[in-house]
Amino acid sequence: MTFDLLKPKINQLVTNKTATKDEKLLAICTLLNAEIPHYNWVGFYFANHENKTLHLGPYVGAPTDHTVIPFGKGICGQVAESNQNFVVPDVAAQDNYIACSFTVKSEIVVPLFVNGVNIGQIDIDSHVLDPFTSEDEQFLEYVNEQVATLYV
Ligand code: SME
Repeated sequence: MTFDLLKPKINQLVTNKTATKDEKLLAICTLLNAEIPHYNWVGFYFANHENKTLHLGPYVGAPTDHTVIPFGKGICGQVAESNQNFVVPDVAAQDNYIACSFTVKSEIVVPLFVNGVNIGQIDIDSHVLDPFTSEDEQFLEYVNEQVATLYV
């Protein structure tokens, strides 16, 4: 399914009156994982700014040991500090990378802002090399803007 067709579906999931926040996030992960062939692991991490750690929230894909990630560590930890999207076309070429599975070849992490504060991120792993374009970035920024409405 194209990003343009997925956007209204994201809105429906976010505004679902009967689901909890975590159920909504899990439904978003499930939708993206099912509909975008190169999204093979989809999850949210949330920041604890006091401890400077990221904590795994709802996700779909292989279970990961990395449920808590210090700021600065790995791709996710770097995004917690940089507040910038991080597109990794080839994880093997990254020094500061936390491997979850040998099947993962590439990754994209997009920060989640609420009132200008970076409260977490969406993290996508892919089993193919270099699949992410600026369209993925724009789409995931859109997803996070919708998710942010749950936290205001
Ligand atoms: N690869 C990430 C760790 C989290 S997993 O992708 C689920 C990183 O380097 O931050």
